[in-house]
Order: sequence, then C-alpha cells, then structure tokens
Amino acid sequence: MASATPPPTTGPTATSGSQPATASPVPEAPKDDIPSSIEADDSADFSDYNDSHRSVASSTQSLSSSIRDHVYANGRQYHRKSADEDNQYLLPSDETELDRLDMVHHLYLTTLDGELYKAPIVGDPPNVLDCGTGTGIWALDFGSLHPGSHVIGVDLAPNQPTWTYPNVEFQTDDLEKEWTFKKNHFNYIHSRGLGTSIRDWERYTKQMFEHAAPGALVELSEYSLESSCDDDSMPEDSMSVQWSDAMADALEKIGVYVRRFSPLFFREHLEAAGFVDIKVFIYKIPRGSWPKQRKFKYLGAVCAEASRSGFEAHAMLPMTRLLGMSEEDARQLCIGAFENLMLGKEHCYQYHWQIVGRKPESQGA
Ligand SMILES: C[S@@+](CC[C@H](N)C(=O)[O-])C[C@H]1O[C@@H](n2cnc3c(N)ncnc32)[C@H](O)[C@@H]1O
Repeated sequence: MASATPPPTTGPTATSGSQPATASPVPEAPKDDIPSSIEADDSADFSDYNDSHRSVASSTQSLSSSIRDHVYANGRQYHRKSADEDNQYLLPSDETELDRLDMVHHLYLTTLDGELYKAPIVGDPPNVLDCGTGTGIWALDFGSLHPGSHVIGVDLAPNQPTWTYPNVEFQTDDLEKEWTFKKNHFNYIHSRGLGTSIRDWERYTKQMFEHAAPGALVELSEYSLESSCDDDSMPEDSMSVQWSDAMADALEKIGVYVRRFSPLFFREHLEAAGFVDIKVFIYKIPRGSWPKQRKFKYLGAVCAEASRSGFEAHAMLPMTRLLGMSEEDARQLCIGAFENLMLGKEHCYQYHWQIVGRKPESQGA
C-alpha cells in the first residue's frame, strides 16, 4: 500500500537536519539514513518543462522491421520474448520506451551527481556485467569511462545499438535462467531497474555471487514504484496511490512483490548470497517540479517528463492483462496519475536506492 510516510528501512526513518543534495552513504546495517524533507516551492512550474498536454503517450508507434519479434497491445509494441511468453517483462519495447529509458538514465545520472555508480571502483575492472542493459546506455557510458574494461550488457530484448565501443558487447539472454557465463569471472556486476521483472531475487543475487570474481563489486540500482510524501499534501486516495496500488496488485499476480522493496530487502538478498561490506545509498527523486531547491526542481521536472509515457509504459499490460481492467480504465488511471503529478500540489517523490556489496577475496563460488 502506498503511504504518505517513507517505506520501512533498516533503521529509524529519522531525517537529518540539513538538506543533502545527494545520498547518504551508510556502511552499517541498522543505520540506513534517509535524506531530509525536500522543501516545496509555491509554484510547480519549471521553465523548460512547463507544458502539460492531455495526451500522455503517443499511441501511434512506428512499425519495427523485426515485426515478428514483437506483439502489439494498447497501442504499444512489446518484445514477444519478454511480454508474450511468460510475462517476464511487461514494459514496451518501442521507440517511445527506449527514449524514456535514456531519459531515465539522465535522471539517475543527475541524482547521483553525474556518477554512473556508487561502488568504490578503482581503475578499470577487467570484466563487467550490466544486467538488463536496456538500450545499453549505461554499459556504453561505463565502457567509455573505463576503456580497459570489457563490458557485457545482457537483456531479454535486443534493443541495443549495433554500433558499440570495442570493449562493450551486447548479448540476449534471460537472467532468471541458469547463467552461462564463467563462474568467479566478473569484477563488477551492475543491475539497474529490474525490480518489476525479477521474480526470484534469492536466485538472481546468488547467481551474481557465483559469477563474481573474488573481491568483485556488485551494485543494485532500484526505485520505489509507490509515491512517498513528507507532509500532508498527498491524500490517501491520491491518484498516485491508486496507480501504485493497482500496479503492486497486478505484479503480485506474477510473483513480483514491489511492496516489499526497501533498502533492507535488497541488502538482505546481497548478504544472503554471500556479499559483504554492503552499503546503501538512499535518494529521493521528486515526482514533478514542486520542490523549491533548483536541483530537486530539475530532477522533478525530468521525472515528470519521463512519467509522461512512464505511467502507461509500466501499467497498461499489467493492469489489463493481470487485473482484467479495460484498456480505457487503465489508461484513465495512468492519465489521472500523470495529470495529478503535473499539478504539483502533492509533494510526492519516489525512493531511489543504490546498494553496493563485495564478494570476499577468500571465497570461491
Ligand atoms: C527498466 S529497464 C532498465 C534498463 C537499463 N538497466 C537502464 O537502467 O537503463 C529493464 C530492462 O531489463 C530487461 N530485463 C527484464 N527482465 C530480464 C531478464 N530476466 N533477463 C534479462 N533482461 C531482463 C528488460 O528487457 C529491460 O530492458
């Protein structure tokens, strides 16, 4: 259930006094810290992003040349392997979605003050794995920054560019199946935004551990689907709450429990897999340009722009296919949530977590 208070963490939900622009690195298990409240502005306008069209996403998508690999629903294109075979991944796989993923990459880069990761990487780790690489934008950025690394980006769908750097390659595979990579091999494993698709986090993190080299770093980068709010501006029946409740209900039907997501959830899975020195970095990303402080206002504006197609991208297939909602009702819920966000009256935000761990030097898989 979405709430007006932060979701549970490993420690008290105390807020710190001053407003950190970035995350709070937290080395100890019980001490995960949460950034303090974001101050609201009188106006939710942001100069570069102040229009609010009624249409949330274009329903006319260009046809792909690999038409047989795709299925079409709700005016969107989905990859057959991910959306049709066993509900493995229910977001679209069309140009609108790939643009949104690249915009979200920018959102996360800004959130992390320009950094691609929080892991204490020194030099170029020789073998790097990017799980669920999407458009491959993170893998390419990493490969460019670390020319001495060999980066493999893996995804269910081949949505990556055919052009790539010599040290970056893309593979198509299902990471919920038995990994075919070498064991004890990768020096850094990165996984961003797989929360709504991974069913078995225990197995997923265990495979990460088995295929990580001794001393390797691992990093999960995840976000909360539900909205949080630090003041009383978000009512219990907010459209944001209705949207995220319906999403959580739908995903539970395929064994994805987004209501459980918290720093503790991800920390415990990494620990159970065998990783040590876990650090959690917690961020708040405003949904909309309601904050006063420039950085948060900008972040909120980018988040809002990504949400223009994001609510529908996340929800249309789960809500129609798994909850049995009509396409019209599901779309209305998404449009309502987006319009509500653009109004800027509810000071809501999503959590973003970076969870970093290390495989002990002495332990093989
Ligand atoms: C929300 S996108 C994130 C993309 C990328 N990591 C980023 O942050 O830009 C999730 C990606 O994970 C991929 N994915 C989901 N489940 C997967 C699985 N079981 N195996 C491989 N890729 C998967 C999807 O196809 C999609 O491209």
